[in-house]
Amino acid sequence: MSIVDKDASVGNNLEPWGKNIKVEFEDGIAWVILNRPEKRNAMSPSLNREMIEVLDALEVDDRCKVLVLTGAGESYSSGMDLKEYFRETDNATPIEVMRIRRDSMAWQWRRLMFYPKPTIAMVNGWCFGGAFTSLVSCDLSIAAEEAIFGLSEVNWGIIPAGNVVRAVAEKMSTSDALYFLMTGEPFDGKKASETRLVNEAVPLAQLRERTKQLALKLMEKNLHVVRAIKLSYRRVKEMSWDVSEDYLYAKSGETYASDPEQGREKGMTQFLDTKTFKPGLGAYKRES
Ligand code: COA
Repeated sequence: MSIVDKDASVGNNLEPWGKNIKVEFEDGIAWVILNRPEKRNAMSPSLNREMIEVLDALEVDDRCKVLVLTGAGESYSSGMDLKEYFRETDNATPIEVMRIRRDSMAWQWRRLMFYPKPTIAMVNGWCFGGAFTSLVSCDLSIAAEEAIFGLSEVNWGIIPAGNVVRAVAEKMSTSDALYFLMTGEPFDGKKASETRLVNEAVPLAQLRERTKQLALKLMEKNLHVVRAIKLSYRRVKEMSWDVSEDYLYAKSGETYASDPEQGREKGMTQFLDTKTFKPGLGAYKRES
């Protein structure tokens, strides 16, 4: 495992992380770690800016086939930084506030939700408020059973902005969403899995291994096609059936034509001609 954890600040002309974000590379996985454990990984304006640069860089970095988002220490993220994101910007001009919010949303959903590589949120501990947006924007998510989640905004007199209410509405049922939004009651990883906020919950001791296993499973597939599938899913949810049908046929043709490993042809040959593969049971045999 190679660890890239630079002390140098952002903008050192080397790699765009090391101050608030740590990146570790292991077997095709980029572990992207919110790295302010002393502040429970609260998201400050400078962390948000750094994360945009990290996501930009990893998009074209071959060491990253699957991106795992997680937090250092005992926290995934305690949400937006109450001091640096809120109080210290109370007197900023409207344009300054707009820029700070734009950076936050740029990575937490705009970039992450349509990221060209598979993403997994690994919730290792505290997960509050603003942290729900990046959690929901990842394709898949695994939580520690012991992790504690909370839509705590109501507890201190604000509504869950930063698209948190929208994110919750995406994954939870109306009953669960309104209950936790209105009461602010914390809940654990098991409950998060029951409400389908996350895909599954496992004991903390098994969290990294299970996440790695899932990332490696994704890497067995043709990642060009995985990308087209995940992006299609995000797009067609907003479409009518008519438009979606048309879009999916067009996307299918484009995906097939631009596939660097021509997977469709390989799969067909292995199933129909050489009879060496059952598509229902696993991925076709790839060269790499
Ligand atoms: N913003 C800014 N700072 C935060 C923070 C946040 N969201 N969450 C934690 N911190 C800071 C604390 O101020 C403290 O800083 P200090 O050491 O300079 O005093 C440090 O992180 C440790 O926090 P502490 O509360 O002592 O840790 P804990 O382990 O006892 O409790 C939490 C952890 C997450 C339960 C608690 O910090 C908390 O409730 N945080 C706010 C969660 C929240 O409502 N987030 C929604 C924001 S949108």
